Amino acid sequence: MTSPFDLHGRRAVVTGAGRGMGQAIALGLAGAGADLVLLGRPGAQSCTRDQVADLGRAVEVVDLDVSDHEAVERAAAEVNSNGQVDVLVNNAGIIDRHDSVDVSRQSWNRVMDINLNGLFFLCQAFGRPMAERGHGKIVNIASLLSFQGGVRVASYAASKHGVAGVTKALANEWGPRGVQVNAIAPGYIATDNTTALRADPDRSRSILERIPAGRWGEASDIAGAAVFLSSAAADYVNGHVLAVDGGWLAR
Ligand SMILES: NC(=O)c1ccc[n+]([C@@H]2O[C@H](COP(=O)([O-])OP(=O)(O)OC[C@H]3O[C@@H](n4cnc5c(N)ncnc54)[C@H](O)[C@@H]3O)[C@@H](O)[C@H]2O)c1
Repeated sequence: MTSPFDLHGRRAVVTGAGRGMGQAIALGLAGAGADLVLLGRPGAQSCTRDQVADLGRAVEVVDLDVSDHEAVERAAAEVNSNGQVDVLVNNAGIIDRHDSVDVSRQSWNRVMDINLNGLFFLCQAFGRPMAERGHGKIVNIASLLSFQGGVRVASYAASKHGVAGVTKALANEWGPRGVQVNAIAPGYIATDNTTALRADPDRSRSILERIPAGRWGEASDIAGAAVFLSSAAADYVNGHVLAVDGGWLAR
């Protein structure tokens, strides 16, 4: 009997897959049988590309700055014309830590352009053919700061609250057309995104003390949830933001 988590025959797009959670998600999807398209910064995807190929899956790399609207349109047109996209994982994201009184308009806009605007227009560019076809899965990477305000990260919290909102809005519109749109809210994961937090002994200790799992997450902790939400096992899951946080939100 075929596993409901099996992704053989599926073609999945992952943004920002060169390192961190995007890389772990790409390898998780490939391990479940999916072929991969890696969208991200020029030169950053080669290590992940080689690891996906080592798993025996087809893999394409397309250079893309997700905040460049016209480039998103071009990249999506190219990828869609090369074959059907069954899964989109919007992982690319940045954080910019400042006291709110010091946030510049440039910093605010950059976070929004990458984390929210890029994500929405990627959903649109890949979701349109999914909805026309009547089949597809979109997984957006949200955050605990889709639920909480955080400290010194107003732009990030605003963008990730927006990711949760967009996820639910698209789930409502595209659910009737066979497309499930969900999100994963990772907890505190040891990647480049959290280097500054882990380098601050007080912040690092206070975060760790609050995590019921008793440890920071690893990028690979997110892969199983991504496989689940990309697969037939999640056909009746729609508009959900799934926390993978070692229990943080339960405190
Ligand atoms: N690490 C955490 O604790 C944590 C927690 C919650 C959510 N997140 C989210 O998880 C996602 C992955 O982050 P990570 O922790 O793996 O950090 P990371 O910094 O290691 O990875 C971010 C990825 O996004 C890519 N990226 C950034 N800007 C881009 C752009 N303009 N165009 C294309 N690609 C771009 C980077 O090249 C990189 O591959 C992000 O959306 C982040 O906000 C991280």
